[in-house]
Amino acid sequence: LVLRIRGFRLAVLLLLQGGSAYKLVCYFTNWSQERQEPGKFTPENIDPFLCSHLIYSFASISNNKIIIKDKNAAVLYQTINSVKAKNPKLKVLLSIGGYLFGSKGFHPMVDSSASRLEFINSVLLFLRNHNFDGLDVSWIYPDRKENPQFTVLIHELAEAFQKEVINSSKERLLLTAGVSAGRQMIDNSYQIEKLAKELDFINLLSFDFHGPWEKPLVTGHNSPLRKGQQDRRSSSYYNVEYAVGYWIHKGMPQEKVVMGIPMYGHSFTLASAESAVGAPASGPGAAGSITKSPGFLAYYEICQFLQQAKITRLQDQQVPYAVKGNQWVGYDDVESVQAKVQFLKNLNLGGAMIWSIDMDDFTGKSCSQGPYPLVQAVKRSLGSL
Ligand SMILES: *[C@@H]1O[C@H](CO)[C@@H](O)[C@H](O)[C@H]1NC(C)=O
Ligand SMILES: *[C@@H]1O[C@H](CO)[C@@H](O)[C@H](O)[C@H]1NC(C)=O
Repeated sequence: LVLRIRGFRLAVLLLLQGGSAYKLVCYFTNWSQERQEPGKFTPENIDPFLCSHLIYSFASISNNKIIIKDKNAAVLYQTINSVKAKNPKLKVLLSIGGYLFGSKGFHPMVDSSASRLEFINSVLLFLRNHNFDGLDVSWIYPDRKENPQFTVLIHELAEAFQKEVINSSKERLLLTAGVSAGRQMIDNSYQIEKLAKELDFINLLSFDFHGPWEKPLVTGHNSPLRKGQQDRRSSSYYNVEYAVGYWIHKGMPQEKVVMGIPMYGHSFTLASAESAVGAPASGPGAAGSITKSPGFLAYYEICQFLQQAKITRLQDQQVPYAVKGNQWVGYDDVESVQAKVQFLKNLNLGGAMIWSIDMDDFTGKSCSQGPYPLVQAVKRSLGSL
């Protein structure tokens, strides 16, 4: 009997261990297909074995129904089937929302239970028709007034997903949310204890802590792992460690926190010869040749910028920045993503999220570190997925 009990315990332990493999959740964006080479990223660039979860962003809403407005939607749907055929363990999710969609995109859908029901029924049909494994809600961001609507939407989606599998041989659809890492936004936007029961996990957008929108305009890092020496008052919250701790403190189980790691940096044009963190800037950094957006550089642009740049590692914040002439960029590299993964493993988080795989050097042509140098570094550090 004792032996049997031991055997049973051992089985339970093994199961628990099996269930605790880390997730590697990878977003890819529909607009990256419009970039010029070598930034042009199409579904054909997806490696079926790179990530445990892939998330296509973004779907939108029309007449209370979910839709994908993608010029090459047919290729996308084919790709979903082909990557899942090659790797049956891979989960592919569809994300709805995003920065441009904003809060306004969720209205009027969320405003009545009838329109929410219409939306939710369309989601079930759409996801199953196109072989998606779940929905990610990236509502950027519900304000204080919308906070209960966000909770209700998630609640009703979760309930519908549960009901849908009762008579089906399929696995339940996953439900996740892309959520803010800013303390004030977290307080305003989310009823965390309720969300914790309904969501499979959260994709924590733990970046954009500093950028060329800062007032006063001074240099700061996009995604510092830890608080910097010069951080005071509210800027003490603007780092990955604080954001992760705050979500857990407010009731999100740590294994449901999937920590975001950016494949891009924010850049500034320096206003003087000063070039440390907190140096005065006169504006965003020059746009990259491919992403073409001032103050923003993809990793494949950053590694080109690094040639003949002066690189400094912030010992306190555990991330690097680089300076060339009057240009300053705070970014992530192989060393910093390894430190971030070690941090999330120490806290037993659910895993790492990548925003986004199309901004890593996915071809390997720009950085001479092989394809997907940052995602691969994250994956190696996570160990088994
Ligand atoms: C990407 O999706 C958005 C939102 O649905 C849409 O407005 C946009 O046209 C799409 N871009 C491409 C290149 O298909
Ligand atoms: C499941 O099937 C049973 C028996 O056919 C039926 O009574 C029930 O309503 C179904 N439930 C759902 C959620 O479709």
